[in-house]
Amino acid sequence: MKIGFVQFAPALGRLEATMQALERLIPRAAGASLLVLPELCNSGYNFRSAEEAWRTSEEVGDSVFLRLLASLCREHGFHIVSGFNERQGDHLYNSAVLVGPDGYVGRYRKLHLFMNEKDFFEPGDEGLPVFDIGACRLGMLVCFDWIFPEAWRILAMKGADVICHPSNLVLPGLAQRAVPIRALTNRVYVVTANRIGSEGDLTFTGMSTIADPKGDLLAQAPPAEEAVTVVDADVGLARDKKITARNDLFADRRPDAYGMLLAGG
Ligand code: ACM
Repeated sequence: MKIGFVQFAPALGRLEATMQALERLIPRAAGASLLVLPELCNSGYNFRSAEEAWRTSEEVGDSVFLRLLASLCREHGFHIVSGFNERQGDHLYNSAVLVGPDGYVGRYRKLHLFMNEKDFFEPGDEGLPVFDIGACRLGMLVCFDWIFPEAWRILAMKGADVICHPSNLVLPGLAQRAVPIRALTNRVYVVTANRIGSEGDLTFTGMSTIADPKGDLLAQAPPAEEAVTVVDADVGLARDKKITARNDLFADRRPDAYGMLLAGG
């Protein structure tokens, strides 16, 4: 299968401009099975007020942004994972959504909120789902989730072959260095789709990254330019959890010694 990312700058509060950019960029990924877009792609990131966060949110069932993604998926035969400013009832979630040729498939709500996100969003309340899209099984994490190894491990243990990671990274280079190691220690593919550009006092760091289950870097975009990148991925490699002839990533775990993780420290 082929997996990829679109690195660009979503336009804060200007959904029409963001959708025009995606209509221009996404067709360049034709031939991919799975494409990942940045965090909060339908809204932008650095809200100046709660009102702005609210105004730029959409409901999953009534989203022009998701309708555009679904039509691009139908046209090109791929699935897309995108960051999504999600409204449900009185609440906002910093979500990742999975869309395919038949429309919306499912979502993940960011568990670990970063900095001012805590002023606007509820923390995720639906755990860490894994979805089977035929070509692979995938899980989703959003940006700052990268620093919590537990989340990656759970997705791998639930059978994810590919972890899709929509991001708006601002700490220079940290996640981009960690992602190949997350891929290696869980033997999964990781696609980190980061954004570029600035909003207010934040500058986003680009360098969207794809790593394979051996921890090898398959692709890395430049720090400040648009990029559409697609690489080959072998799902069989992600399903082989053997480290040596006598070591298996999951069978050799020692949950009897890990109780402190569940107790919360
Ligand atoms: C981040 O979680 N957007 C840094």
